[in-house]
Amino acid sequence: MNNNENIIKLEQVVFSYPGSNITTLNHLDLEINRGDRLGMMAPNGSGKTTLLHTIMGLCKPNSGIIKIFGKQLKNEKDFAPIRTKIGLLFQDSDDQLFCPTVLEDVAFGPLNLGFSQEDAIKIARETLAKLGIEDFEQSVTHRMSGGQKRLVALAAVLAMQPEVLLLDEPTAGLDNKVKNKLINILNNIDITFLVISHEFDFIKAVTDKIYSMEEGRVLTDDKIHIHRHEHVHKHGRHPHVHK
Ligand SMILES: Nc1ncnc2c1ncn2[C@@H]1O[C@H](COP(=O)(O)OP(=O)(O)OP(=O)(O)O)[C@@H](O)[C@H]1O
Ligand SMILES: [Mg+2]
Repeated sequence: MNNNENIIKLEQVVFSYPGSNITTLNHLDLEINRGDRLGMMAPNGSGKTTLLHTIMGLCKPNSGIIKIFGKQLKNEKDFAPIRTKIGLLFQDSDDQLFCPTVLEDVAFGPLNLGFSQEDAIKIARETLAKLGIEDFEQSVTHRMSGGQKRLVALAAVLAMQPEVLLLDEPTAGLDNKVKNKLINILNNIDITFLVISHEFDFIKAVTDKIYSMEEGRVLTDDKIHIHRHEHVHKHGRHPHVHK
């Protein structure tokens, strides 16, 4: 694996949502190289999801350059093929899942990639087993709990066997046991990824570098210092709040 090979490069990207007078991405630069295991922690509304959607060609920048696998991408025709190589886990699982059953949802990607029905189902079943949700394969996706849907959405992304993973708050709604399973999976697959999370312990466990976002730009780790605050105090007799 060539660890310096550039996979994703954004140069001076500017993006505003149509009709909005806010510049959500403001001359943003970002580089992701093969083998990178990047984390991103930044406040609500700082543009993290917009950034991932821009990489996937779901938000079209007003100006700037997007290069993926060394090639500049401009229109839908350019972006369509890279969506099979870069797996985006949407922040909202309902944006990802649209088939009646779990197995169909997870097999959809491999089928789309040209695998036979039999092979697509085999891949889907293996992926579900990896995440420990194989017993749900015949469940109706939209009736599952939020955390279960999160896992199915993750299975749907992993089943595509992408070269790069963009994960938008993957642990939202997951219990600790499942979260640890996800940590284990991410630490044992040979894949380039960028993961957005508000959970310091999770992001610390799976990434080598943590970036942030401010004023529509990415702040790389030489410009920021993220650390966890901890404190201890006596319980006291009565429940209390911190001011
Ligand atoms: N479809 C949209 N139309 C107009 N404005 C939008 C749209 N989606 C997001 N925005 C705005 O763009 C800004 C960035 O939103 P974005 O969802 O990228 O933030 P985020 O960093 O992912 O936040 P969070 O941590 O809450 O997920 C916000 O001000 C938001 O209101
Ligand atoms: Mg978001």
